[in-house]
Amino acid sequence: MKNTTVPRRDFLRAGATLGAGLMVLPSGSLFGAATPNNRLNIALIGAYGRAKAHFGTLKNENVVAICEVNQLNLPFAQKEFPKAKVYEDWRKCLDHPGIDAVLCCTPDHHHAFISNWALNRDLHVYMEKPLAITVNEARAVRDTYLTKKSKLATQVGMQRHAYDNFARLREMIHDGAIGNLKDVHVWGNRQLPRSGYLPGVGPVPSTLNWDLWLGPSPEHPFNPEYVSRNNGSNCLNWNMYSDFGIGQMGDMGSHTMDLVWNVIDAELPDSIRATSPEAFNPEVTPVNLTSVYMFPENGWRGKIRVTWYQGGAMPKSPSSWVDLNKIGHGAMFKGDKGFVIADFKNRLLYPSGKETDLTYYKPRSKEEITPPLGNFQAQWTMACKSGDPSATACNFEYSANMIETMCLGLAAFRAETELKYDSVRGVVTNHSAANQYLTKEYRKGWTMDG
Ligand SMILES: NC(=O)c1ccc[n+]([C@@H]2O[C@H](COP(=O)([O-])OP(=O)(O)OC[C@H]3O[C@@H](n4cnc5c(N)ncnc54)[C@H](O)[C@@H]3O)[C@@H](O)[C@H]2O)c1
Repeated sequence: MKNTTVPRRDFLRAGATLGAGLMVLPSGSLFGAATPNNRLNIALIGAYGRAKAHFGTLKNENVVAICEVNQLNLPFAQKEFPKAKVYEDWRKCLDHPGIDAVLCCTPDHHHAFISNWALNRDLHVYMEKPLAITVNEARAVRDTYLTKKSKLATQVGMQRHAYDNFARLREMIHDGAIGNLKDVHVWGNRQLPRSGYLPGVGPVPSTLNWDLWLGPSPEHPFNPEYVSRNNGSNCLNWNMYSDFGIGQMGDMGSHTMDLVWNVIDAELPDSIRATSPEAFNPEVTPVNLTSVYMFPENGWRGKIRVTWYQGGAMPKSPSSWVDLNKIGHGAMFKGDKGFVIADFKNRLLYPSGKETDLTYYKPRSKEEITPPLGNFQAQWTMACKSGDPSATACNFEYSANMIETMCLGLAAFRAETELKYDSVRGVVTNHSAANQYLTKEYRKGWTMDG
């Protein structure tokens, strides 16, 4: 089972080799041209909150446009990028002349829209997680991306992927540390209960364009709580509301499922079921949820089951002396020769079953391990400038598959039955009524394909 060479895919996705021979890739207006010092012309959409984590990367490029709906959130980015033209509406910002790339940190209900619009304009995209909040949004973005992947670099903000543990987990399981992979459990314990959309509390401050904050979402009255965090990071104030996010599946779930996604080489599940002690509430995503996905076999493993647990639901520990509850966000891989239990930075190999001598497994030497990914954001900017734009770890194919899978769990919860899924067509085949849960309502006048 042991493969002593680092697979080409791992090399590409590690990105350590991307630095060689940088040039600005032909994305739209920059075809064949060179910006001063090979800097990308970037539009930053959503300028405060999470955006601050990207200022370091952006300072190495030219931020030529900033889009922000809250004037109070502008000065921080404007101080860093004083020459950037300011926009309020991302649809206009995306047409700023001469941009090569977009880095987006808006609330989640804009993500698939901005991604698709940007790809349509041949722009490279770094999109904060989650890439989408419905099955159909994920599919639309992936479809567009696949037609452009030879020229556009994309990355979804699952930056923990750069921790070495991600590659070590992949190597261990692919090299047979737990035998044949059978079952995967992955969980997160964050709980942000809400009963429904907030009541209107006005007036809307004159500094905030609430209409553009809502964007493609159906109308909801303004309440300051949606935008009230002092540090600007308001995602924990809105991501549980159904028109704005998918709760923990898109929040910490994006990071934690990524631990698993990086290992299992899955595309999409063919059956999905979900359970929760909570009744379905159309206004908010459930806090406590368990969703179970069956994935077909692939070239190196048989079919597997992956179970996502959130908000207090937890898998059973393989041993009374391993307390999985001590791991807030973690994963457990079960093979026919044992378990690997992991969080983002640590892992524990637990041999069990008939064979526990570990003679079947030899850890890789230093020369054989996957090279470090390096800086996650820089992996994207380098990919924009290299001849291998799809070499980012969390490109829009990888990330769309992952978030489509998560969203299917929410659809199964709403349908209250197991779903059989035709992943090629994107259709639930055993319960036609459930297909309505693969999409959501949008505001008139907003299109994803702009
Ligand atoms: N990768 C991570 O670890 C990580 C961590 C935190 C947040 N995030 C993600 O980053 C995103 C932003 O989260 P946040 O907590 O900063 O949210 P936030 O609500 O604070 O919004 C961020 C900024 O976007 C602006 N904004 C809102 N709507 C906009 C629009 N239509 N056009 C332009 N700007 C708009 C807001 O005014 C704010 O300045 C979310 O998608 C979240 O999931 C990722």
